[in-house]
Amino acid sequence: MPQVCVTQRIFPEAIELLESENLSHSYHESDQALDPQDLKEAVKGCEGLICLITDKVDGGLMEHAHNLKVIANVAVGYDNIDVNAASERGIIVTNTPDVLTETTADLTFALLLAAARRIPEADTYMRSGQFKEFKLYQPQIGVDVFGKTLGIVGMGRIGTAVARRGALGFGMKVLYTANSPKPEAEKELGATQVTFEKLLKESDFISINTPSTLETHHIFTLKEFKQMKRTAFLINAARGPIVKEDDLAEALESGLIQGAGIDVFEREPLIDPKLAQLKKHVVVAPHIGSASVETRRNMSLMAAQNVISALKGQCPPNALNSEVWKNVS
Ligand code: DGY
Repeated sequence: MPQVCVTQRIFPEAIELLESENLSHSYHESDQALDPQDLKEAVKGCEGLICLITDKVDGGLMEHAHNLKVIANVAVGYDNIDVNAASERGIIVTNTPDVLTETTADLTFALLLAAARRIPEADTYMRSGQFKEFKLYQPQIGVDVFGKTLGIVGMGRIGTAVARRGALGFGMKVLYTANSPKPEAEKELGATQVTFEKLLKESDFISINTPSTLETHHIFTLKEFKQMKRTAFLINAARGPIVKEDDLAEALESGLIQGAGIDVFEREPLIDPKLAQLKKHVVVAPHIGSASVETRRNMSLMAAQNVISALKGQCPPNALNSEVWKNVS
């Protein structure tokens, strides 16, 4: 019986790390997720599970894995895992924080710039041979980013990194919402904590950087888009279900807001067909927030290290439910 089940293709260095620790493993070396039945079969008997956000790891699956001690998600978000169900069974859950913070903030800002300055539209125009001469009022005339107001919904690690790019790189005024004040960000970036309503009303660009939970489900609907400036942009590189996607399409189409940069989708991998049709000031990407070679390699290694620690009898460095560890150790 293999000790560790790796559900999808990860970076080879992580597999080598498991091997260097003499951990036997079953490796589904494919970019396609296992279907739920095959996943159930794969986890049977394993002590460690390395999985991706497309693997649904719920209590039902855990019932099939009596030996499971640790579930290591190769992601910082873990809305694919029922952490309570794991805790009830004494299973440690880990994620991959920090290593992807700057990479995800870079992508968030890339979406913001691309939507404001209409880069994909300009790219299509250029490649199709439509550029005949420079005009002062060009078809892809955009809006400034420098000096505008950036609203951060969720001033955690990634939110702060996005805010830093805005404040220090682009002279932006930063507003934020968070569960608690962030004095360090306020000092470093001149950021101000505001109510959600004020952030909606005053921001030129809003970046969503909060996890997907019951509380954050659909916090952006038509009601919120109506409170935003008609010139505002929404950027989401966090999780799809935070935004009601058909409302977003409607808000863009009807001019309630001006643009959007969207990396995550409510019914991923699907995109709302109306949203897919919209091009002006709208940029979409296939969940590539953390997708740099360096970062995805580090995430893979981190997940492997979390499993190794747990199977060696140590509390893994990125345990989300470390109270479980205290109870079993
Ligand atoms: C995460 O880490 O949560 C990303 O969405 C996937 O890399």
